Amino acid sequence: MKISNVEVRDLVKTYGSPLYVYDQTMVEDKMNLFKKYLKCPELDCDVIYASKAFNCKAMIQLVSKKDCSLDVVSGGELYTAYATGFDMSRVYFHGNNKSIDELNMALKYKVGTIIVDNLMEARLLSELAKDIDYTVAILLRVNPGVEAHTHEYIVTANIDSKFGISVEKKEDILDLIHIISSCPNLSFDGFHAHIGSQIFDKQAFVLEVNKVCEFVSNLGIEVSTLNFGGGFGAVYTDEDTPIPVDVVCDTLIQAVKSNVEKYALKINKICIEPGRSIVAEAGSTVYTVGFMKETPHKNYIFVDGGMSDNIRPALYQAKYSCVIDGKEDEMPSKHYKIAGKCCESGDVIIEDAFLPEVKPNDLLIVKTTGAYGYSMASHYNKALGLPVIFCKEGKSQCVIRRETYDDLIRLENDL
Ligand code: LLP
Repeated sequence: MKISNVEVRDLVKTYGSPLYVYDQTMVEDKMNLFKKYLKCPELDCDVIYASKAFNCKAMIQLVSKKDCSLDVVSGGELYTAYATGFDMSRVYFHGNNKSIDELNMALKYKVGTIIVDNLMEARLLSELAKDIDYTVAILLRVNPGVEAHTHEYIVTANIDSKFGISVEKKEDILDLIHIISSCPNLSFDGFHAHIGSQIFDKQAFVLEVNKVCEFVSNLGIEVSTLNFGGGFGAVYTDEDTPIPVDVVCDTLIQAVKSNVEKYALKINKICIEPGRSIVAEAGSTVYTVGFMKETPHKNYIFVDGGMSDNIRPALYQAKYSCVIDGKEDEMPSKHYKIAGKCCESGDVIIEDAFLPEVKPNDLLIVKTTGAYGYSMASHYNKALGLPVIFCKEGKSQCVIRRETYDDLIRLENDL
């Protein structure tokens, strides 16, 4: 199998196994699509890549190359953006519990926008920002009471979410805006909402836009910016039917326009924060098949990685599909359970993969691991961090090297 015209078996010869491999062209094409379709003459539009899905210097360089902005949620993600030389005015800093150090770091780096999550943060930030020499745009994360995942969405009062302030709590929101507006270096620009991830139903986004706009209208103050978060889906198995990028963007724009008209809102900028939909399908994990065994009900394939490089099946019962390198065109003949090498029964990558006959040393390629794979990896069992390889038009490049055993004990001190 080839990824962006590079043979997977050559990648394994060069970089070893297991590996995360990204088709760089696919990542770039996805960002181009969002940029192309999130456009409308009446509104400024910003595509903000949610870097929690996959954050490293090379990825951030692609975000910059494609003229997108960047969403970060921690000092670590913020630092990586800074160290990469990303334009910090295009960074949106999120988080429900940013530390003083993280907020100071953001101000030192002159981050463009901070998404404030709660009243305590607003008070702290207005103190910290007293002496800075630039103006930070502030969005307030609100909880519009719409929750969506894959095909389902629910409208809830959802007052217990850890993120943002419920749109029902008008007094708190007005207090917060007052605190922000009283600080000369903070500019209150508007609101942010995010309703979930891997969302397949465009009505969920329409509902989100309607709720947020209705709330803004009821609040009775003018705001310039609305950020509707991410959540656009990706294809993991053939059961998945994400909304095409052009449709998602058009849906959002039309919904905003009709609300602007309905409530005579003064909105002039909208933002979205796609993470998964930009990187998920471009990424694959390449494993080598090791031992195999049959139990009364299962044919096990053991691979040389597992939950330490992909926690999603264990954590969310996420489903993946895979192919065996060189056997893509063979008829499937056997059901296999693909398990990793971690010391944990739940260490399963695919519960039931219907594949052609598999042999030890075959390369097994799990698709759509580009989002929340590398970024949620762990060192369980002191597993080595996998390298990340970008492929483009027949060429490969290692953008994160494989960890070594020395890396693993680098931070440790003797007793
Ligand atoms: N913006 C905000 C404020 C978010 O909280 C998130 C994701 C995004 C944007 C990007 O959402 P996306 O476009 O990637 O769906 N670890 C989980 C996903 C958690 C998503 C958290 N927030 C998973 O592996 O499925």
